[in-house]
Amino acid sequence: MSAAKRTLLVTSALPYANGPIHLGHLVEYIQTDIWVRFQKMRGHECHYVCADDAHGSAIMLRAEAEGIEPQTLIDRVYEEHTRDFAQFHVAFDNFYTTHSDENRHFSELIFQRLDAAGHIARRTIKQLYDPERGMFLPDRYVKGTCPVCGEEDQYGDNCEKCGSTYASTELINPVSTVSGATPVEKDSDQLFFKLNDFRDFLANWIDSEQHVQPVIANKLKELFEDELFQWDISRNAPYFGFEIPGEKDKFFYVWLDAPIGYMASFKNLCDRENLSFDQFFAQDSEAELHHFIGKDIARFHTLFWPAKLHGAGFRTPTAVHCHGFLMVNGQKMSKSRGTFIMAETYAKHLNPEYLRYYFAAKLDDGIDDIDLNLEDFQARVNSDLVGKLVNIASRCAGFISKQFDGKLSDTLPEPKMLDDFVQAMESIAGHYESRRFSKAMREIMTLADQANQYIDSAEPWVLIKNADRKHEVQGICSLGINMFRVLMTMLKPVLPATASKSEIFLNIDPLTWEAARAPLLDHKINKFKPLLTRIEDTQTENMIEDSKQAVADLTPAKSLSGPLADDPIAEIATFEDFAKLDFRVVRIVKAEHVEGADKLLQLTLDLGGETRSVFAGIKSAYTPDQLEGRLTVMVANLAPRKMRFGVSEGMVFAAGPGGKEIFILNPDDGAQPGMRVK
Ligand code: 2FM
Ligand code: ZN
Repeated sequence: MSAAKRTLLVTSALPYANGPIHLGHLVEYIQTDIWVRFQKMRGHECHYVCADDAHGSAIMLRAEAEGIEPQTLIDRVYEEHTRDFAQFHVAFDNFYTTHSDENRHFSELIFQRLDAAGHIARRTIKQLYDPERGMFLPDRYVKGTCPVCGEEDQYGDNCEKCGSTYASTELINPVSTVSGATPVEKDSDQLFFKLNDFRDFLANWIDSEQHVQPVIANKLKELFEDELFQWDISRNAPYFGFEIPGEKDKFFYVWLDAPIGYMASFKNLCDRENLSFDQFFAQDSEAELHHFIGKDIARFHTLFWPAKLHGAGFRTPTAVHCHGFLMVNGQKMSKSRGTFIMAETYAKHLNPEYLRYYFAAKLDDGIDDIDLNLEDFQARVNSDLVGKLVNIASRCAGFISKQFDGKLSDTLPEPKMLDDFVQAMESIAGHYESRRFSKAMREIMTLADQANQYIDSAEPWVLIKNADRKHEVQGICSLGINMFRVLMTMLKPVLPATASKSEIFLNIDPLTWEAARAPLLDHKINKFKPLLTRIEDTQTENMIEDSKQAVADLTPAKSLSGPLADDPIAEIATFEDFAKLDFRVVRIVKAEHVEGADKLLQLTLDLGGETRSVFAGIKSAYTPDQLEGRLTVMVANLAPRKMRFGVSEGMVFAAGPGGKEIFILNPDDGAQPGMRVK
């Protein structure tokens, strides 16, 4: 190896812990994994860490919709994610979670250091508040019409149709997804990271040493035309995340602690493997820190993240490598077309290494989207991997095994040919290093063509029948096998499983760039077993059909219709929770209008000896005379609640969305006021 030994820490973006890994995600994990495997094969010290991004409203909402605790959800998803990554040979050195002690520690530490240095501002801003539920609404709890393009049913932070970002207070006709109420604007105290304090540092960081790709740097520079904005890093309870130290009911916004999750995952690895965390994160660290991310989250990694690290006295990233999105058959992945393909579904039908190869053949160092065209995918895998690569080994191995007792020759007929392959390795290494994988794949396949052409023209199958020339076959096939070995070395970062099968076939130590320099001569190989098989039409067709079904099964809460779709079952309550509440049959002895109240009726309830006065929001559905004399059910031990019109001493039960559709409960005949409901 010519280059000096480097020390690297590499990350991929942390997937949210609320859904499955799909092929769109895999572009990044495969890209990073190929790069990491390449670095390791070159003999560098390279650690690859990741974690589930376990915080935020989306995860809280998802858990609520499933009626489970967030921890139960993130534990389940962790299992699914690790299974999927393993299947696609994405070999993290550590896959952790942001809901960890290490992440809490570093999040608090970074926040406290920034705060102490004056980089945190506290301001009161207007936020949407749900008056019925009594809570501030995080952006994803509000839906309404996009203020930019007019698209309905958009979340409070950005529009899925036009991509605009805005404040939730700008939404037109906002509705709380928690209660269905119309939110009101209310003052809320928030904490902000003063990004502008890092203006000069960031401008310089973005401009120098290729920390970011030029196309990203140019886009970021537009932001520097104005003062850099203050970034809201706090969220009000209820929120699933870390509480901000020294604040009440305030949590770190998920994006504050997510990238810190890279450090936390690495710290966890350091503790397990006795590595020095400081060697990688101290301000003067000489280790490299590389982040692979999608272009949509560039700002989080190229502004907030380096500023936070720098402001808190840690080193900053060596490079943030952005990639584009995945298209399938030229279009965005689509659930109805069956092109929203989950990792698990793909792996049921097709070899994950095919996808790794196809992505490698498409990926470069830019941020253009890449297209998985399924016909092209099939044709390319069949032609390149099966038709070219594996073919070299399979057409040579039989002769060596059967005619020469599995032994390779001790000299090669055309050593220059193999030399050319070995020479090409440095150029291929350069392409890997600079993430021009597509160029690497093209050059490797050109070499594979040359190897096949050589075998075609040497015609070992003809020579073997000629007693005078039979001996030449051993050399020809040994050269073929040696060329295959170099090709397989170069493809090992992309095809690790096939490489490992090839190591068994070749009967050698793990393939490395260094080892491939010397030819394999006078060496016994093992019997050849097919390494890869062709993709048949039915495999991709079945995967598409299966994907349609799999995504339908994905969102149980959403695919429901009727009341459960809008108002999912609440979190599990224990029996003790239930037993605390005292429900009683009551008779409504009097129902009256309340002056000045649009929605309320005042009910006087007889509990069989005791009376209660209760205000009920049922005026839109009942007149007083429809109620008087009826039996119903109340919560009798609810703490009295002071309302504008008086004290309400309990609650009666009613179902329905509101308006005319409110239905109070009726016990069957025979029930008496005061009877307990249990
Ligand atoms: O966009 C996402 O999927 C985020 N979960 C990525 C987080 S990357 C890092 F910053 F944590
Ligand atoms: Zn819009």
